Amino acid sequence: MTEAILLVGGKGTRLRPLTVHTPKPMVPAAGVPFLTHQLARARAAGVEHIVLATSYLAEVFEPYFGDGAEWGLHLEYVTEEEPLGTGGAIRNVAHRLHSGPDDPVLIFNGDILTGLDIAALVRTHRETSADVSLHLTRVEDPRAYGLVPTDGTGRVTAFLEKPQTPEEIVTDQINAGAYVFNRSVIDAIPQGRPVSVERETFPGLLESGAHLQGMVDSTYWLDLGTPQAFVRGSADLVLGHAPSPAVPGRRGEHLVLDGADVAADAKLSGGTVVGAGARVGAGARIVGSTVLADAVVEPGAQIHDSLIGAGARVGARTVLHGAVIGDGATVGADNELRDGIRVWCGADLPAAAVRFSSDQ
Ligand code: GDD
Ligand code: MG
Repeated sequence: MTEAILLVGGKGTRLRPLTVHTPKPMVPAAGVPFLTHQLARARAAGVEHIVLATSYLAEVFEPYFGDGAEWGLHLEYVTEEEPLGTGGAIRNVAHRLHSGPDDPVLIFNGDILTGLDIAALVRTHRETSADVSLHLTRVEDPRAYGLVPTDGTGRVTAFLEKPQTPEEIVTDQINAGAYVFNRSVIDAIPQGRPVSVERETFPGLLESGAHLQGMVDSTYWLDLGTPQAFVRGSADLVLGHAPSPAVPGRRGEHLVLDGADVAADAKLSGGTVVGAGARVGAGARIVGSTVLADAVVEPGAQIHDSLIGAGARVGARTVLHGAVIGDGATVGADNELRDGIRVWCGADLPAAAVRFSSDQ
């Protein structure tokens, strides 16, 4: 049975303040830590042994997921003393793998929501006798990703991480963050120092003539690295646009977790999630948003495409569009916050303090 490595040690900088107290894979999406969806999808594809490569806020993973038995998995955790980068993290967990040198090992970035057919990627890997196989997807603007041009047979011809110049944008195919490595390729990554799999390992392998195979597909794919993407991904899970066996409830316009209290005339739509212990007041309207545990949305608030952190409070009639409210923050009544604004954890915004438009 194929085993897997999950890379979950990044700092999640672009997701702050969501990642101030919580590492990115543990931020709830559709009511459960995002990582749960990836674990459940790997399990559904037949993967049983998964090693988590942890670094930032490493201590929170094991108390939640334990040995993985609850998910039908055997989970192990390896924590880096200093962040080792993606390649260093992979090398650092190699001693926990059971695979032989020629066996395929799955590797996943820990922030990708996708409908990838995992078994098909392993099949492609075997059929092409590749050293490494990569899931590729096409995006409109590839600049924030690793560009991966391929030849007519799908063989990778170059790997350009986060291109800086227009000349480097040679394709719209990007590294989608799921790989199959032959075990021996993992063991050949240098040990004990930071290594970027994207900037060092892949270009080095290509240079040495190794066979890297790309598998392009057009299934659902989203990197949840930014607040807007995270909120979108959570909503897509609830709506059923993104596949996961781990959504706790029926697919639909909203997901209200046990212990939440939503006023009868509040309107929840577009994949909105209301977490355990959260309260939503009368007449509030929440679209495509996430309200984490124990947060409070007061009467008449209007919330679109936003994330309200655990224990945060949004005042009456306040309007949020594309906003992130950090854990424990308070936004007073009659504010208007838009367009990617981030209110830090614990901050306290008085009533009627911020408006985006000139009306009162
Ligand atoms: N253990 C460990 N240690 N994990 C790490 C470290 C580290 O030092 N650095 C990053 N990671 C983990 C992150 O937690 C994440 O799951 C994964 O490695 C990728 O890191 P990101 O920070 O999310 O990278 P990115 O989104 O900018 O780019 C990567 O993903 C793109 C697809 O979303 C690259 O792999 C790109 O090539 C790719 O296109
Ligand atoms: Mg990412």
